[in-house]
Amino acid sequence: MKILVVGSGAREHAIIHSLAQETPAVGAHELHAAPGNPGIAELATVHAVDALDGAAVTALAQQLGAELVVVGPEAPLVAGVADAVKAAGIAVFGPSADAARLEGSKAFAKDVMAAAEVPTAMAHVCSTVDQVAEAIDAFGPPYVVKDDGLAAGKGVVVTSDRVEALEHAQACFANPDRGGDPRVVIEEFLDGPEVSLFCISDGDTVVPLAPAQDFKRAFDADAGPNTGGMGAYSPLPWAPPGLVDEVVARVAQPTIDEMKARGIPFVGVLYVGLALTSRGTRVIEFNARFGDPETQVVLSRLQTPLSVLLLAAATGTLAELPRLRWADSAAVTVVVAANGYPSAVRSGDPITGVTEAERLEGVHVLHAGTKVDDDGHLVSAGGRVLSVVAVGEDLAEARRRAYAGVDQIVLPGSHHRTDIAAAAAAGQTAGTLR
Ligand code: AMP
Ligand code: GLY
Repeated sequence: MKILVVGSGAREHAIIHSLAQETPAVGAHELHAAPGNPGIAELATVHAVDALDGAAVTALAQQLGAELVVVGPEAPLVAGVADAVKAAGIAVFGPSADAARLEGSKAFAKDVMAAAEVPTAMAHVCSTVDQVAEAIDAFGPPYVVKDDGLAAGKGVVVTSDRVEALEHAQACFANPDRGGDPRVVIEEFLDGPEVSLFCISDGDTVVPLAPAQDFKRAFDADAGPNTGGMGAYSPLPWAPPGLVDEVVARVAQPTIDEMKARGIPFVGVLYVGLALTSRGTRVIEFNARFGDPETQVVLSRLQTPLSVLLLAAATGTLAELPRLRWADSAAVTVVVAANGYPSAVRSGDPITGVTEAERLEGVHVLHAGTKVDDDGHLVSAGGRVLSVVAVGEDLAEARRRAYAGVDQIVLPGSHHRTDIAAAAAAGQTAGTLR
């Protein structure tokens, strides 16, 4: 099949890595990416097309004769790239701009959750700092303050410091990208471990993938600011049996049904971010796309050909898909981040050791913020630079292999967490929110 993947991160590299490994099960694919990255370029033809430009992506898909377009990141989805591709009659995996508001607006997501009776944190949508002050005082600490719009995982502050909470709200209101009606969502604090569950949908049927856990904070022991995600693992040995079925029944299917009833069917992956709290399972957030870095571990265990799953979602035939098959293995990914991430990121540092890491058993390296400089050297070009992924018999083995891979990578000034999957590999429940 001719497949075009839109995006340039490690998530898109993971998708292409899975698609490239399907042969001979499904027959060889012809893989393309827009714009891709240097790692993706080893597996697919990359095209210098702006991922946010729906007309340009559609023209490329038409010119290539693409049979499936997969839109990876949220920004092109919210910008309507999937709508443009679909309007040209090409199968597209990824929701319309209207449906992507489940991620693009936290206030919209809360409204859908309320209508679908999905359990989530109580929340107040505020338009002024005075309203924020009233809401945080009503909930009490720890305070959860969220920018209403897209913020690459960095728009949320969880703090017991009232001044910091108010300052974050003020900064969100002052953000020039938010236009005339900036809003801030104040939520009740959810305790308990976090789980990411990707639910694939064709607008009607829901097919859940294996749950994963992400590490959102920048530093070990969940210290430091929130990031896009510093590492992940799957499966979750500590998760209650029946969790996936419960989340499909109480969260994903009611949400997909509610979207359909509103005339905005959701086609793509509904990323359900959950907290398993002392009072039950609650939705922390919805995203309208695969999570990064959870995708890197989830897809490395999926044995059903990914193209079959994505095409079935894009063409409304998920109900006919046989049960997904999973490897009986564990996977861990560790993100190597650039100096300064998630604040001011330093770019242009040389990266070596990727080939050496990939020689290790069970290890592969996915590119995110990388580029090839004028001299042909691989250098850093973003906050999260590489995702080192390893599979093993169990989490302990996958973890050892992933960190052996990280040890091979040399990137001056970089940092990574050393405790990804540590608690889970040691048999403990992991990832309690703080
Ligand atoms: P979000 O962008 O909504 O996913 O939030 C980013 C991160 O902030 C989440 O992954 C949680 O770690 C944390 N967080 C968000 N909402 C809450 C909440 N209501 N209670 C506790 N932690 C939260
Ligand atoms: N890993 C968190 C996210 O993709 O939003």
